[in-house]
Amino acid sequence: MNNKRILAWARPEILALKPYQSAREEFVGGDREMILLDANESPFENGMNRYPDPMQGKLKKRLAEAKNISENQIYLGNGSDEVLNQLMVSFCVPKKDKAVILPPTFGMYKVCADINQIKTIKVPLTKNFELDVESILKAQTKTTKMVFIPSPNNPTGNCFNVNDIRKVVKNFDGFVVVDEAYVEFANEKSVLPWLSEFDNLIVVQTFSKAQGMAGVRLGMAFAHETVIELLNKLKAPYNINSLTQDAVLKRLKEQGLVTQQVQQILQEKERLLEELSNITFIKKIYPSDANFFLLKVDNSSIRYKELINRDIVVRNPSKQIGCSNTLRITVGTYEENNALISAFKTMEV
Ligand SMILES: Cc1ncc(COP(=O)(O)O)c(C=O)c1O
Repeated sequence: MNNKRILAWARPEILALKPYQSAREEFVGGDREMILLDANESPFENGMNRYPDPMQGKLKKRLAEAKNISENQIYLGNGSDEVLNQLMVSFCVPKKDKAVILPPTFGMYKVCADINQIKTIKVPLTKNFELDVESILKAQTKTTKMVFIPSPNNPTGNCFNVNDIRKVVKNFDGFVVVDEAYVEFANEKSVLPWLSEFDNLIVVQTFSKAQGMAGVRLGMAFAHETVIELLNKLKAPYNINSLTQDAVLKRLKEQGLVTQQVQQILQEKERLLEELSNITFIKKIYPSDANFFLLKVDNSSIRYKELINRDIVVRNPSKQIGCSNTLRITVGTYEENNALISAFKTMEV
């Protein structure tokens, strides 16, 4: 199904691109046992001697069932980092098009834009770290191809007001990429069901956070079929390796455990926040819908170093707009969180 508006947004070079045809895509063998002499692989079976399924059919089938969407609406990448980059490559013309980002925000949006020579237009969040919908919509021009909305947001940890996100999706004349890396931790539901309403919505999710599989590198884009067709055109032929596909298929059967771990992390977050609220140099704890939270402290550089001296690494996002003297802290295990609490308690006021 070709959507005219989406095709008009695509880069002409990508539309014209004749993708590399990988060996395994050239025939449809169905259930037949084939002798594979087409891809110059080693014939000696060791479980890994064959190229992986280039279109990740089995995995996409399971994901489609789990997410209640069509397999043709799924693109898989080497972490969502790569998915974000591929979106820019597909739709943003270098040195001409622009992307809107909403600081304080996830740093990779600007990095991907810089790599692809795409200018970023910054529309800061409001004082309460909410979307400034009016300014986002005002920032639109003919060359603003996409806006990146991470919800829950990184580094602030909050979900954006869902009606605000909807207003942007409805009125932005370009793609709205809703990055739901932390959605499993939030009370707010995913905006995935909106895909049936909006052809300009792209939802990005990952196996790196709640799913506990940062090491396998699997990111997902869910979008209109025409978007997915374009992304498929430019992907490396065997972009998701066999180990990753197998590990994620296995993880999809362990969702009970994932839910249990998410609950445990959320309980630990409550305990941590309760304990940290008694530390006098912590000036503010921002509301969090994620597995991390943002703290305002008296001096973030000093507190960051003091934690390093106590063998604890956190993030210091203080250079970002609206984040001066803040620390971003991930919720760890019970023991790790105890170590963090003790470390804070031993620091000088
Ligand atoms: C909002 C957001 N999006 C995407 C990512 C990248 O995730 P992945 O591991 O899937 O590349 C992160 C990682 O921190 C993130 O915070």
